[in-house]
Amino acid sequence: MELPKPRASTAMPMARLLLLCLATSSVLEVVAQSNLGRFISIDCGLPGQTGYVDNRSTLSYATDAAFIDANAGSNHNISVQSGTPTLPKSLYSVRSFPDGARNCHTIGSLESGLKYLIRGDFLYGNYDGLNRLPVFDLYLGVNLWTTVNISNPYGAVYAEAIVVVPDDSVQVCLMNTGSGTPFINGLDLRPLKNKLYPLANETQALVLLHRLNLGPTDTSITISYPDDPYDRIWTPYVDATQQWGEISTDVEVPYNADNFEAPSAVMQTAITTQNVSDSIELTLDLGSFPADLLLGYIQVLHFAELKKLPSNSLRQFYIYRNGALQLSGLENAYTPGYLWNGDFYSGSPFQSSSSDYILTLNATPKSTMPPIINAIEIFSVISTALVGTDLNDVSAITEIKGDYQVSKNWMGDPCIPTSVVWVGLTCSYAVSTPPIITSINMSFSALDGLLSSSFANLRNVQYLNLSNNNLIGSIPDALSQLPSLTLLDLSNNKLNGSIPPGFLKRIQDGSLDLRYGNNPNLCTNSRACQPAQVRSKRAIIIVAIVVVITVIVMLVAVLLFCVLRRNKKALKLKNERTTSTSTANVIYGDSSLRLENRRFTYNELDIITTNFQQVLGKGGFGYVYHGILEDGVQVAVKLRSHSSNQGVKEFIAEAQILTRIHHKNLVNMIGYCKDAEYMALVYEYMPEGNLREHIAGKDLNGGCLTWRQRLRIALESAQGLEYLHNGCNPPLIHRDVKTTNILLNTQLEAKIADFGLSKAFSVNNDAYVSTNTLVGTPGYVDPEYQATMQPSTKSNVYSFGVVLLELITGKPAILHDPEPIGIIRWAQQRLARGDIEGVVDSRMGGDYDVNSVWKTAEIALKCTEQASLQRPSMTDLVVQLRECLELGEDRTGIDTNNKPAYTGVSSGANPYMGYKSYTTTWQSNDVSQTKTALDVEHSLRRMPSMDDGPAAR
Ligand SMILES: *[C@@H]1O[C@H](CO)[C@@H](O)[C@H](O)[C@H]1NC(C)=O
Ligand SMILES: *[C@@H]1O[C@H](CO)[C@@H](O)[C@H](O)[C@H]1NC(C)=O
Ligand SMILES: *[C@@H]1O[C@H](CO)[C@@H](O)[C@H](O)[C@H]1NC(C)=O
Ligand SMILES: *[C@@H]1O[C@H](CO)[C@@H](O)[C@H](O)[C@H]1NC(C)=O
Ligand SMILES: *[C@@H]1O[C@H](CO)[C@@H](O)[C@H](O)[C@H]1NC(C)=O
Repeated sequence: MELPKPRASTAMPMARLLLLCLATSSVLEVVAQSNLGRFISIDCGLPGQTGYVDNRSTLSYATDAAFIDANAGSNHNISVQSGTPTLPKSLYSVRSFPDGARNCHTIGSLESGLKYLIRGDFLYGNYDGLNRLPVFDLYLGVNLWTTVNISNPYGAVYAEAIVVVPDDSVQVCLMNTGSGTPFINGLDLRPLKNKLYPLANETQALVLLHRLNLGPTDTSITISYPDDPYDRIWTPYVDATQQWGEISTDVEVPYNADNFEAPSAVMQTAITTQNVSDSIELTLDLGSFPADLLLGYIQVLHFAELKKLPSNSLRQFYIYRNGALQLSGLENAYTPGYLWNGDFYSGSPFQSSSSDYILTLNATPKSTMPPIINAIEIFSVISTALVGTDLNDVSAITEIKGDYQVSKNWMGDPCIPTSVVWVGLTCSYAVSTPPIITSINMSFSALDGLLSSSFANLRNVQYLNLSNNNLIGSIPDALSQLPSLTLLDLSNNKLNGSIPPGFLKRIQDGSLDLRYGNNPNLCTNSRACQPAQVRSKRAIIIVAIVVVITVIVMLVAVLLFCVLRRNKKALKLKNERTTSTSTANVIYGDSSLRLENRRFTYNELDIITTNFQQVLGKGGFGYVYHGILEDGVQVAVKLRSHSSNQGVKEFIAEAQILTRIHHKNLVNMIGYCKDAEYMALVYEYMPEGNLREHIAGKDLNGGCLTWRQRLRIALESAQGLEYLHNGCNPPLIHRDVKTTNILLNTQLEAKIADFGLSKAFSVNNDAYVSTNTLVGTPGYVDPEYQATMQPSTKSNVYSFGVVLLELITGKPAILHDPEPIGIIRWAQQRLARGDIEGVVDSRMGGDYDVNSVWKTAEIALKCTEQASLQRPSMTDLVVQLRECLELGEDRTGIDTNNKPAYTGVSSGANPYMGYKSYTTTWQSNDVSQTKTALDVEHSLRRMPSMDDGPAAR
């Protein structure tokens, strides 16, 4: 709909109206200069800290030092050629950004919700002596504003947007799109009254394409401040063909209460035609904005009658845009009022099929005067609906950036666009809420000083890795209050003090994995702090003592056991539990926290399991029995059979390891029994049995795991293994990863079981387990391990890949098709043909997100690469699997029935989708540089240039 703004109502006598308007406008002018806030004029690239007052405009310019990171970009001067007309002073210096994909100026102290005219000034002037004209993108915060295309080295390009600023600061970012080094000469912010340019609001901005002063008396004069109190730049329109007549007046054409307040200096001139029957036809280029970013265009036409017409004459004309009549109503025509600052503008954006805007003004049959027009503005309307990262997260991470002087690419919004996410951060994107920061990896970043308290403000962070830095001081307890935090890695720092109580609690309940190895001054148990060396010496002594004591205890136990066995019936279980206190724990010194493990007697086990009645399963170690503790807690009791070839050493190895390890995705040990020749381990009971049974469909409910359940199980298993690899010092390699060693509880939460074959990665610690026998299960064994006999964490990754394939296909590790074939070969053959349907478990009935399945299959194949170097790490896997899970989540509620074809990039209603690349990357910190469809479109956009030679201001 187009809103006509016809001439003033005649109800009020014109003279009175004019007086009123004059009064109002002078009041408004005062408002514009006081209440609205101040002009901000920034001369980019000016050395030093002190600004200046520009002689011509009388405006005060600041250097941009306070608006940008200290090390961002470099300063230059344009090279002034002889014959170059004098330019505004602010255009002579340049800040250019040869480094970094995105560089931003941040302008703070704004009034949130206020409307601003924001303008970037660009004049290349061969400042770098290379004579290469760049093209780059300009962003307003996270929203693409325009593409700056420098086509004339000495032509000033002004990018202007009218914006409602959502926060108290705004960022203007230059994005390197691979077509030359971005640079900027100046940045101007001019507060506007909120009623001006009503189409600019919180969710949409107006980007200037043309603002022309028609019929100027001097075509070399550009009107701006102070003639225009809002400092808009009105470019003089040069009528090269001299087809139009020009009219002007010396009388002021004041503002009235309109929506645009075109300055009098602009309104005092107009173009017209010589002959009443001739029409004015004006053609302007609209550029070529990508349709999905552009909400349309708007026109603002400014009219004022400049001649006092005799009463028998009439100036009345039709307005056509690209051939379409614009006005409706009484006469469908417009009559400018005498010295009346009138306008006609689009009430809503229009679309244009052509790249030209054609304005035609035709006198009506009644009209005795030809049409006139004083000024015209054309804008494109862009969406500013994309919101940046959660403000709380932004302020916390910005503080952290300041505390540690992080440079990297930490500029602009931390999470958007995804092509320039801050290095080390992982963000989570949802449709209706701002992105949040979920993971931070600042390891090996040479951080020093105290642990910043701002980390405790990152409410959404799940994974925080600050390992391998030089952090000092104590660990703030506030960090333990972060609700989402599941992993905090502080290892290899110089922290001191003790582990705060909040952490102890969260470690005990399994909700947080705290890693703090190699902090020599950190006290990790209740003992007073001592230098590391003394302590490790002490630990050795304790180990020796413990070994001696253990031997004695065992001898005593053997004697005792013989006695007790005779009186077995007489024995009652009366809370006479022997809790192991120091034995297993001291050995591991500061690498773990002391967690209580109960020591059972054989008799207790006998009662718990009701004479070893219910067998849950059988492993290499022996039978596993079901038991119930006195407090009703169900347990699994793994009793070593006498024929077991897992000896005392392995038993002790497993007991020791289990004592150390607590993680929500590892089966928890409750206690153990070393009672004469009887050895047993007591675990939490996993009622849903193992994953193999569920995949095979033998589960109790007869149902079939959904894709979501499968992915969740995969992720949780990966987390358990990741903990073994990275949470334990030295790392532990599970020697038999397979679906029967992944157990499920009633919530179908996965936990890794059977550490009987685990072996500490470090050679120093292998006293208990022999290394030279190949262990593992056919179908799961890493070929490289088989060849070298050297297991590695990547051997687990290989076996885990097989588990993933079982989850996808529902088939066992070795299947009969009809000849026996490994699941890896089987899946590879089909996936190579793109046959995902032939691979995926048909029992899921097609109810899965194809993108998510494909991505998981890609991950599985990557895990089962022959060369271990090619395989991802467990940490990578956790990140990747989480993304797979999110893929499924994104789909929820969007289309549950349609099975979309697999594409690398997903798009849809989600405003973040276009930015989000689902391309699999294998470094967890590696930000995908893949160009999404939208990014490509961005680079096709063109810029409204007003580069008709250097502009005088
Ligand atoms: C601006 O003013 C300063 C001193 O007030 C003067 O030295 C300089 O020549 C002036 N520049 C121009 C371009 O008028
Ligand atoms: C630019 O010119 C000014 C003086 O005209 C000078 O002080 C400044 O150092 C120059 N900057 C660069 C980067 O050469
Ligand atoms: C930049 O402008 C030039 C000339 O106007 C044009 O040929 C070129 O395609 C533009 N480049 C981009 C990336 O828009
Ligand atoms: C901004 O204006 C557009 C078009 O008039 C409208 O659809 C949108 O809801 C407005 N946004 C706000 C926040 O008012
Ligand atoms: C105006 O146009 C009419 C018809 O085209 C023509 O007869 C007349 O001479 C023109 N007048 C002037 C002043 O050019």
